[in-house]
Amino acid sequence: MLQADQRVVMITGANRGIGLAIANNLAQAGFRLSLGARDPSTIDTSSIASAISPLVHAYDATDKQTADSWTQATLDQFGAIDAVVLNAGVMVPVGVSSENEADMDLMWNVNFKGPWRLLRATLPALKSSGHGRVINVVSLSGKRVMGSGNLGYCASKFAALSLTHALRHEGWGDGLRATAICPGLVDTDMVSHVTAPEGEFKITPEAVAASAAYALALPNDASVAEILVNSRLESTF
Ligand SMILES: NC(=O)c1ccc[n+]([C@@H]2O[C@H](COP(=O)([O-])OP(=O)(O)OC[C@H]3O[C@@H](n4cnc5c(N)ncnc54)[C@H](OP(=O)(O)O)[C@@H]3O)[C@@H](O)[C@H]2O)c1
Repeated sequence: MLQADQRVVMITGANRGIGLAIANNLAQAGFRLSLGARDPSTIDTSSIASAISPLVHAYDATDKQTADSWTQATLDQFGAIDAVVLNAGVMVPVGVSSENEADMDLMWNVNFKGPWRLLRATLPALKSSGHGRVINVVSLSGKRVMGSGNLGYCASKFAALSLTHALRHEGWGDGLRATAICPGLVDTDMVSHVTAPEGEFKITPEAVAASAAYALALPNDASVAEILVNSRLESTF
């Protein structure tokens, strides 16, 4: 069957949660998938309905070498990179009065420097595509601060949002468009210990995936910089 959209997309953290939901959505749309995970054996390709077998490759956001080798493997297999979904992330509570610099550094490393590393590796291919796309799974925690206890995560996600906007300047003339998706609570392992506050629901990973698919479907002259995804009314940003 002829696929509607055979662009090549790399997805980080594609083994579970939001990354897996995005992989499933884009597979159904016909994208050719290059899936990155720290442990590639945790990606169950049989559960992803892709017409063309996905490439599965090791990718650790803290290790630039894996960003480079995964990028090269994607180009070797598909000959192009049209889109990158920056999804892998970690959240550890580190508040204003915390002495836990190790976890602050971890979140900076995974949530900001990881995407920056992979973008440096993939930028030449994304620019030469002429219609390159970057979807950055940020968070509403990259838009506003709801308390003092999540400073580390918020700081790393504010930085990730700034990366999205800087990238829009970097690649605009080459047809590269970047979108930050900023959801509230999403029903994944990351927040399985969190109960949604009164009046709020956990967003499904599939709804976040639909936002990513929407951004990827837009033409160069209809770029959306940020998609804020709420399950309750918020007016603080
Ligand atoms: N869940 C929410 O409420 C929520 C809300 C807004 C934004 N987000 C963002 O959405 C993204 C996906 O999160 P999720 O909710 O799907 O969480 P999740 O289920 O905990 O999945 C996190 C993903 O990130 C990967 N990852 C963690 N550290 C990594 C590293 N050093 N290198 C490569 N991959 C790494 C994990 O891989 P392993 O399996 O190897 O650990 C896993 O695939 C994150 O950026 C998160 O900040 C989540």
